[in-house]
Amino acid sequence: MQIAVVGGGVVGLSVAWRLVSAGRRVVLVDPAPTTGASWVAGGMLAPVTETWPGEEGLLPIGSASLESWPAFAGELRSAAADPGLRTDGTVVAALDAADAAQLETLAEHLASLGREVERLPGRALRALEPGIGPSIRSGLLVPGDLAVDNRELLRGLHKANRQAGVDFVAASAAAVRGGGVELADGSTVDADVSVIAAGAWSGRLHPALGGLVRPVKGEILRLRGRPGALPPPGRTVRALVESRSVYLVPRSGGELIVGATQYEAGFDTDVTVAGVRDLLADAERVLPGTGEYALVECAAGLRAGSRDNLPLIGWLEPGVLVATGHHRNGFLLAPLTAAAVLALLDGRPHPAPVTDPARFRKGET
Ligand code: GLY
Repeated sequence: MQIAVVGGGVVGLSVAWRLVSAGRRVVLVDPAPTTGASWVAGGMLAPVTETWPGEEGLLPIGSASLESWPAFAGELRSAAADPGLRTDGTVVAALDAADAAQLETLAEHLASLGREVERLPGRALRALEPGIGPSIRSGLLVPGDLAVDNRELLRGLHKANRQAGVDFVAASAAAVRGGGVELADGSTVDADVSVIAAGAWSGRLHPALGGLVRPVKGEILRLRGRPGALPPPGRTVRALVESRSVYLVPRSGGELIVGATQYEAGFDTDVTVAGVRDLLADAERVLPGTGEYALVECAAGLRAGSRDNLPLIGWLEPGVLVATGHHRNGFLLAPLTAAAVLALLDGRPHPAPVTDPARFRKGET
């Protein structure tokens, strides 16, 4: 049985690797695997700090996927490369009184879902992360929210897939049907089952996805500490700065990823002056030492948002599966997604039914 996976971002590569490891013959279609939104991502694995009122569905599936992460990272380390899983945890900081009130709302919401988080005054936050500036008034400690080096992970998955025999087809898909994938040049990749994992572009590949997947642009900056500057934090630092969200994710090589804006502006990937200005200014208010860092990269990517911002993982028709719509949580949900696709292919029950695209077909949402 041949499986075609369309999309070489974190979701497509994870699915392909899981399937080839389970003995399936896999072909992966993508003109430029490892690029796109996954290359731009912060790499946070953060089911708790990504949960907001109205998006509770993420917490159970995100927590379940996070539990698989140490084993997933360990398997990849043995097979190909270390993906740089960081287990230092996350702190969330609030700048002004309104930000502190918003964090308190989040803490109460999490408590109502059975997730207590530790509230910390600014002084205690600074004891944990000395680079946090004096104007931060309070925060939360969330030790279970982790991060991974997105680029090391993508390189590792690409290598692991090649080594395991996945056939990479460097082409753009135009449509996916029961018998395989139609490419933009008019040729076809035959497959018994095709898996649409093309992120924000997935909606163009199958009629059942029309209107279900939208691009949500995010910008990130890469900063690098310089001699004499304060070192980057040990943990991921998220913050609310005058109601804007910013996150700062350290990498082991000394870089600090700053993200991420969120715009609903179609397929535009320009990095805007205002986006960079806000991210830099907010980062500096949280970690004043970043003003001395080098700015090494600005980039934008397109997250794949679904109508409820939960993924779409399931059958669209016989021979066509979808695994997209991961919005802000592609890295977090990659192991769960790959396991779900394998289960569905094996005819086992859907391990995460909340993600089945049938929830929209029934007209419930
Ligand atoms: N996971 C964070 C983001 O999408 O910006």
